[in-house]
Amino acid sequence: MKCLALLALLLVSSVSLAEDSSTAAPCDPETCKLPHCRCSSTDIPGGLAARDTPQFVVVAFEDSVHEENIVTYRRVLYNRRNSNGCAASATFFVSHLYTNYVFVNELYNRGHEVALHSMTHMNPSTYWRDATYDVIKQEFADQRVQMSHFANIPYDSITGMRLPFLQLSGDNSYRVMSDYGLKYDSSWATNAFTNPALWPYTLDYQSTQDCLAPPCPNASIPGVWVKPIIPWVDLDGNPCSLVHECYNSPDRFNETEWFQFFLSNFERHYFGNRAPFGVFLLEAILYPFPAVQNALERFLDVINNLEDVFMVTADEVIEWVKNPVPVNEYRTQACRQFIPTTCVASQCEVISSYDGREYEFESCNVCPRVYPWLGNPLGQ
Ligand SMILES: *[C@@H]1O[C@H](CO)[C@@H](O)[C@H](O)[C@H]1NC(C)=O
Ligand SMILES: *[C@@H]1O[C@H](CO)[C@@H](O)[C@H](O)[C@H]1NC(C)=O
Repeated sequence: MKCLALLALLLVSSVSLAEDSSTAAPCDPETCKLPHCRCSSTDIPGGLAARDTPQFVVVAFEDSVHEENIVTYRRVLYNRRNSNGCAASATFFVSHLYTNYVFVNELYNRGHEVALHSMTHMNPSTYWRDATYDVIKQEFADQRVQMSHFANIPYDSITGMRLPFLQLSGDNSYRVMSDYGLKYDSSWATNAFTNPALWPYTLDYQSTQDCLAPPCPNASIPGVWVKPIIPWVDLDGNPCSLVHECYNSPDRFNETEWFQFFLSNFERHYFGNRAPFGVFLLEAILYPFPAVQNALERFLDVINNLEDVFMVTADEVIEWVKNPVPVNEYRTQACRQFIPTTCVASQCEVISSYDGREYEFESCNVCPRVYPWLGNPLGQ
């Protein structure tokens, strides 16, 4: 009898163990509550009405930061304020290869968010699809250490990541985030939840989001935030996750049409459930096309003057979702503070240990011995 009970107990515990390590349980909003847990849902956090909800706009750029694109970033983004008087900020998902860390330091000290986009930005996307936990750890957790070191910015200020090509790698990237204290991921695109759009949520329980670039996570990974990518709609009504990838977009020489394109995509959020509106693009669509750049600047001028719209970093959006307050209260909150840092620039010529080539490298720290890379993020 005793033996049988023990056996039953063993069976029960092994079953629940198997469930824990494979699939997360369905989400119950009664148990999954803010600030630490949120089910995947199009409901506005805090049960707010749309008209009481701040409309956040997240402008985010990807890839390396260097002496060419910094010129555009300065022109388009610096010295902007939201209507509450706080700085209007963007987010940079920075990849390491070819990045000049002196400019990363500058972006940070201008109040913008520095986030991770991998060390190598390796091609093709199957590299990310098939990436093991260890590869993701080297590409992102090690990149966070690297970024903080060479850009001389606080380690804790780096909280977000985006996988190259928006290619997910199952549970692996989210497990690395959880183990190394990253707060949010901005890689997972949806086509099923666009209007009303999906708000950010945690992975404590099963996500109901559609999976466009499998494998998607299916384990329970508590405390990790998914900031879903809500696509734009192109001129044919097709979804596009990144603005520069919209298939039928306006003529890149026509500012009027591009201004309308920004506005009409924004309005779907603003007149909908006010889920954060993402403007995710590459600098390569701005500098060569002054009409697109002017249209973006005009669009930002418009939203920076609206009383209930705020151009903020992705990290600030997650912080609001954790503790949602109505727009009237949000407007009176103190502006975000950050600890300024300095940069004593070093110009380095360093030989790469992985391809034997010489790389120029500028950092706010002493020159590395070899070009920093996978397995040797500080180039020691
Ligand atoms: C979870 O996803 C992985 C792929 O990342 C897949 O191999 C596995 O079968 C899935 N588990 C369940 C229980 O669906
Ligand atoms: C831009 O597009 C608008 C509307 O389609 C059109 O009226 C205008 O002539 C175009 N301008 C240029 C410079 O092509």
